[in-house]
Amino acid sequence: MRHGPFIFLGILCAVLASWLGAVVAPQLQFGDQALLKLDDLGIEYPLARNGEAKQGAEIYRAEGCNYCHTQQVRSRGEGADIARGWGKRRTVSRDYLRDLPPMLGQMRFGPDLANLGERQTNATRLLMKLYNARIEMPGSTMPRFPYLFEARKLRYGQAPSTNALPLPAIFAPPAGTEIVPTTAALQLVAYLQSLKSETLFYEVFPPQPPKKTNQVAVAVGGTNAIPTTNALPATNTAPATNTPPATNAPATNASASP
Ligand code: HEC
Repeated sequence: MRHGPFIFLGILCAVLASWLGAVVAPQLQFGDQALLKLDDLGIEYPLARNGEAKQGAEIYRAEGCNYCHTQQVRSRGEGADIARGWGKRRTVSRDYLRDLPPMLGQMRFGPDLANLGERQTNATRLLMKLYNARIEMPGSTMPRFPYLFEARKLRYGQAPSTNALPLPAIFAPPAGTEIVPTTAALQLVAYLQSLKSETLFYEVFPPQPPKKTNQVAVAVGGTNAIPTTNALPATNTAPATNTPPATNAPATNASASP
């Protein structure tokens, strides 16, 4: 084994390089990111979750929702995710500061949930989705989570609880039974409704207006606007706008000082 030390050095360098690239570099880039005080909005971003929603995050993780749902608005090309209504901007690393661990997800069998709390404010609809996704969307491939609910027998003549799910007839349990959410289901829904990352701040690129198409260029070209507008600023700015500031500045200073 004459090459032993070289092989060892080679492996060490490979491990070291990937550690520098995958651990040290991101740590230097994002490691010291802190909550952002947005004084004009009177908030600290990302928004804090209440205890119920924090518990819900654990249930989200335990149920493996992130195997089918991402929490990241990507912006590729024309911003397909934004066009789908999944957010007003792409997500940035700061959006996950309160998440331990962040539930990025990688597969999109279902819609992205990064901004679910912005678009779905109806807790009952979310509970129904968890109980049986097909109530709202026939043929949905989202699994049911019936164990997050409790089937309760009603005594004869007893009115159903106020938090019983208003299930349509074909999904309803046998007569005399009601379906009520467990604490876990309510916590999960509190978490889902806390998913909001649309706040704009400086490191976020606000969504751009759609790119100009050829049509616009043709319209501009057709009116001969290009030659005239190009000529005007070129001749106007050079002599006219350059000279007044130069002469104005001393003049205003002089008149202000006495
Ligand atoms: C096997 C994949 C899969 C899993 C696991 C899964 N879902 Fe879904 N989910 C889907 C699909 C597919 C849809 C879209 C069809 C529909 O709306 O039913 C969806 C839709 C949704 C929607 C509606 C989204 C919207 O934009 O209106 C919510 C909310 C949701 N899922 C929450 C959850 C939660 C919470 C969990 C974990 C408890 C979960 N899902 C687990 C596949 C999945």
